[in-house]
Amino acid sequence: MKTDILNIEDIKHLIDTFYEKVRKDTVISHFFTEVVTVDWEKHLPIMYKFWSNILFNIGEYTGNPMQKHLNLHKKSPMRMQDFQHWLQLFTETTDELFEGINAEIIKQRATSIATVMQAKIYA
Ligand code: HEM
Repeated sequence: MKTDILNIEDIKHLIDTFYEKVRKDTVISHFFTEVVTVDWEKHLPIMYKFWSNILFNIGEYTGNPMQKHLNLHKKSPMRMQDFQHWLQLFTETTDELFEGINAEIIKQRATSIATVMQAKIYA
């Protein structure tokens, strides 16, 4: 029986599972391994903070994701299908592990942030 995303441990479980998939993914993994070389020990805790800030209003995230993705796009274009694929992996992972209002909210927020990112990137 699945439960909702209720605490920081649940966020960690979701994010760790999502990036395990991203790292193996044939469509978008190169952004993380070739376009930039992500230090996962640093990146994952940043992502825990980012999502706990969004879902629970905690976590002290202070970065600038828009600028990071604009920089990435300059190095190697992020296509609309890359965003769709990222979202599909995120949605799929959330649905595999969780069920409930926070699971719905996190998927919606991912979708709306991805939409804003694309609007800025393709402007
Ligand atoms: C095609 C889709 C995407 C790709 C390929 C991608 C790739 C990346 C990469 C490579 C980084 C590390 C950048 C660096 O450290 O220089 C990063 C950071 C990040 N991404 Fe994405 N991303 C995508 C979509 C998204 C979306 C839709 C969101 C939010 C819903 C998101 C949120 C973040 C955040 C919060 C960071 C950390 C920024 C920081 O260091 O403060 N990404 N992304």
